Amino acid sequence: MNRPIIFALPGSEALLQALCTALDAEPGALEHRQFPDGETYLRIESDVADRHVVLLSSLDRPDAKLLPLLFAADTLRELGALKLGLVAPYLAYMRQDVRFHPGEAVTSRTFAALLSRHLDWMVTVDPHLHRYHALAEIYRIPTQVVHAAPLLAAWIKRNVARPLIIGPDMESEQWVAQVAADADAPFLVCEKVRSGDREVTISIPNASAFLDRQAVLVDDIASSGRTLAVAARQLASMGFAPPDCVVVHPLFAGDAAQVLGGYVGRIVSTNTIVHTSNDIDMMPVIAEAVRNAP
Ligand code: R5P
Repeated sequence: MNRPIIFALPGSEALLQALCTALDAEPGALEHRQFPDGETYLRIESDVADRHVVLLSSLDRPDAKLLPLLFAADTLRELGALKLGLVAPYLAYMRQDVRFHPGEAVTSRTFAALLSRHLDWMVTVDPHLHRYHALAEIYRIPTQVVHAAPLLAAWIKRNVARPLIIGPDMESEQWVAQVAADADAPFLVCEKVRSGDREVTISIPNASAFLDRQAVLVDDIASSGRTLAVAARQLASMGFAPPDCVVVHPLFAGDAAQVLGGYVGRIVSTNTIVHTSNDIDMMPVIAEAVRNAP
């Protein structure tokens, strides 16, 4: 790959310099604004002819980001970009992976089909793979998944004495087990039942044997914050100190911060989504994956 040029889409500007440095890439310039009627104006200012181009767009709050991303992708192609890849540190629309109720849109499939039509490859961090086992089931372009577990474990090892790693639900078991192994700590997995967007119940079996340890809740996504808050309340009722929370994708939507306040200790996240809790830098490992892009 010749020296790539990276364009940050709205919302991901704060990640651009770190990725350029990690990849020895050139930052691209684009202008983006809304017309008074809400339509998007977008202009590529850098020369991209015969260049490898990377679009950097973390796809939290995706609906407003998708059109600018597609406009940028098509424009870059028209301007002569050789190859066009997407770094989406957070990949949206992975949780609607099945029609839970009659008539529901399986949005993961439509979203994947759209991106696949406009890009040559994609790199992302720990997509929420539950009923899909691999992105290739819905993405028709080469994709690479970067894993945060080793970096989460390293943070825990550096910052928590005698940790007990806790995964919030059965789905989290495989990668929570990996974090725990890397952090030389025991782990537990909760039983979670979700009955609504903001309603979950959680039980934590066999936790009392670990009361002398610092609980660390590890989750791939914190969205409404209810999963972490309910688990933290549960731990408090068992006699644990407020747990630390280590999260890959800090969506923290709506009133999540207030809901968590008082129940948890430190909240730490990776920078797949720009947030005040970011303390784990994913850009070097993302850069490594981009180097291997087709
Ligand atoms: C669910 O399967 C994920 O691993 C997270 O536990 C979930 O998305 C968290 O959502 P919330 O913060 O809204 O409870």
